Parts: sequence; C-alpha cells; structure tokens
Amino acid sequence: MQPQQVERNLSTTLDDCYMVNEPLGVVFIVGGWCSPVQMCLVPLVGAIAAGNCAILNPSEWTVYTAELLHRLIPLYLDTECFHVVLALKNDLPDIVELKFDHVFFTGTREDGNKIAQAAARTLTPVTLVLASKNPCYVDQHCDIVTTAQRIAWARFHNAGQSLVAPDYILCHKSVQVQLVQAMKCCLMQFYGSNSKESHKILWKSGKVAVGGQAIEAEKYIAPTILTDIVDTDLIMQQDVFGPVLPFLTVQNVDEAIAFINKQEKPLCVYAFSNDNKVISQLINETSSGSFCSNDCVLQSLMVTLPFGGVGTSGTEVSDLSVSPICVIRPMRSEPCL
Ligand SMILES: *[C@@H]1O[C@H](CO)[C@@H](O)[C@H](O)[C@H]1NC(C)=O
Ligand SMILES: *[C@@H]1O[C@H](CO)[C@@H](O)[C@H](O)[C@H]1NC(C)=O
Repeated sequence: MQPQQVERNLSTTLDDCYMVNEPLGVVFIVGGWCSPVQMCLVPLVGAIAAGNCAILNPSEWTVYTAELLHRLIPLYLDTECFHVVLALKNDLPDIVELKFDHVFFTGTREDGNKIAQAAARTLTPVTLVLASKNPCYVDQHCDIVTTAQRIAWARFHNAGQSLVAPDYILCHKSVQVQLVQAMKCCLMQFYGSNSKESHKILWKSGKVAVGGQAIEAEKYIAPTILTDIVDTDLIMQQDVFGPVLPFLTVQNVDEAIAFINKQEKPLCVYAFSNDNKVISQLINETSSGSFCSNDCVLQSLMVTLPFGGVGTSGTEVSDLSVSPICVIRPMRSEPCL
C-alpha cells in the first residue's frame, strides 16, 4: 500500500511524482456454488488486504455453506466492516443498484450480464469470473497416458463442477481412439469399475464411449466420455459443469484453432503436445483468460499469476489490455498404475 514513485522527465525533474494506493470502499462479493467457501473467502481476503469493507453473498444453492458463513464470519471479523447477506439470485441486480464501490461476481455469463448491467447504472466497477467452454487440444505428438491422467483429473474432480476444467477435447480421430482408451483406464483407477446401474440415457449428443449412467434421485452421474460430437450438439451449446467430457475430432491444429476462434473467448485454453511449435501456435493464435500446456487447472492455483477471463468469460482484475497468462509445462511420462 506504500506510495510508488514514478519516473520523471526533464519538465518534472524537480517534482515529487508518485501513485497512492487507496481502498475503493465497500465491495459486494457474490460467490458461486461450485466452490462455495473458496469463491467467497478468496475475494474477501483481497478486499481486506486492500483495506476495504465487504458484504458477502454466498450462493443460494449451497444453503448450508451460506448459513455457516453467515454464522461464523461475525464471530471472527469486525461486524462494522463485514457482513454476510443471504439474498436470492433474482434479487442481486436490485442489491447491486444500491451502489457499491466494487462488485465481484462469480457465476454464469447470463447472471454476470445482469450484474454488470445493474452495476453500470451507478458506474460501479465489476470483476466478473464467468463460466465458459474451455477447449483442450490434444496433439498427435504427446504422451497419451500422461495426457489422459491429467485431463481425467481436471475434468472429473469435484464431480466436474469447476470453472477451469477442460470442457471439451479437440483432437485427431486417431488420437481420440487412444485417448478414450487411456482415459477409461484412468477412470477405473480413480473410481473403480462399480459404476451405478441405470437405464436412463443421459445426453442426446454423440455416442457414449465410457460411463453414461445417471440416477436422478441420487444426483449421480457416472464419469462419462462422449465421442462423435459436432458443434451443433446440445452439449456444445452450454457449459458442461459436470463429469462429462465430449470429444470433437479435427484434422490438425489449424482446424482446432479455427474451431476455438469461432466460439466466445474462453476462461482457459489447454493444449497437450511434445511439439513446442504447436504450443506456441495455440498461444499466439487463440485468446483466453489463461493458457496452460501439458496440464490443466494448474495456472489457477498459482498466486503469483493474475486470474480472470476475457470477453464473455469475464474481466481481468486490473487490466485494460488482454494479457493471457501462460504456464508452460514440459511433457513427461507417468506410468499407468
Ligand atoms: C515529459 O513531460 C511533458 C509534460 O507532461 C510531456 O509533454 C512530454 O511528452 C514528456 N516527455 C517524455 C519523454 O515523457
Ligand atoms: C509466436 O509468437 C512468438 C513471438 O511473437 C514467435 O517468436 C513465435 O515464432 C510464434 N510461434 C508460432 C508458431 O507462430
């Protein structure tokens, strides 16, 4: 928070020139349901560190977590500065219009749009972290077992409910055959072979290659891989946000890039390849909030990197220019246990 001196030129050489950091005021933080504690408390930590007061609104879908935060926060934080409210999603735009100094929202594009419109009426700045369809390109030149393990973990952890999970795979048909087989092996390792019985057909898109069982009463969906997907299929019209991974086939990296660039700019782009040229081409020719090669999710865990989206996947925290952050990992083999 200390003032930062800036460089001077000839006409200001005798002057004192510096930037002062000051808190914005009161920040309204709207959490998402997929990581209900983290998505409230992490922005709160930032707000406190910068000297702000805050009002927290946990997601209405995670009732118990919301009530817990409502009960616990006043026990540990100054009640003059920090409040937890339990407003319903439909009331949020009206609350935002009451006028805050900053609004931090995590959720869907549709809801983010409503929040941004309400905030615009009072010229309140917003930070939006919005769900998107994150593409994952898998090149011919890669270690299939390692790739399968990393993608399977990233897609299926937390039952697929993650903003930064790879949403769909773009790969050559020959890669698809090997990758589906390797992922089937990973899913057996992760979850065992005892997938639940059900006759319900889950998705009307493509072909079920692995999984496909669902039990509505238990809110259970088996880890599922769909192949033969085309961009007009239902599953490509919305963010998956569940343990389902669709595969689309492309001839080469150029076709994958053309496909990615026809969609809205995503929160993350992922690429798996041993060929650095392929990785560098994807970085140069696509635009997203973040990029990670030969792994997924990793870039969002690094506190030294900024976060956020671009275009309809949200706003980068403090930037007017697009600066996708990149984590480049070398490919290395991990034995399939
Ligand atoms: C120096 O400052 C003057 C006055 O603001 C400005 O007109 C000029 O462009 C600056 N020059 C450089 C090199 O920054
Ligand atoms: C990507 O851009 C960098 C720097 O702008 C350049 O050095 C590199 O050759 C480009 N890579 C490809 C594959 O076009």
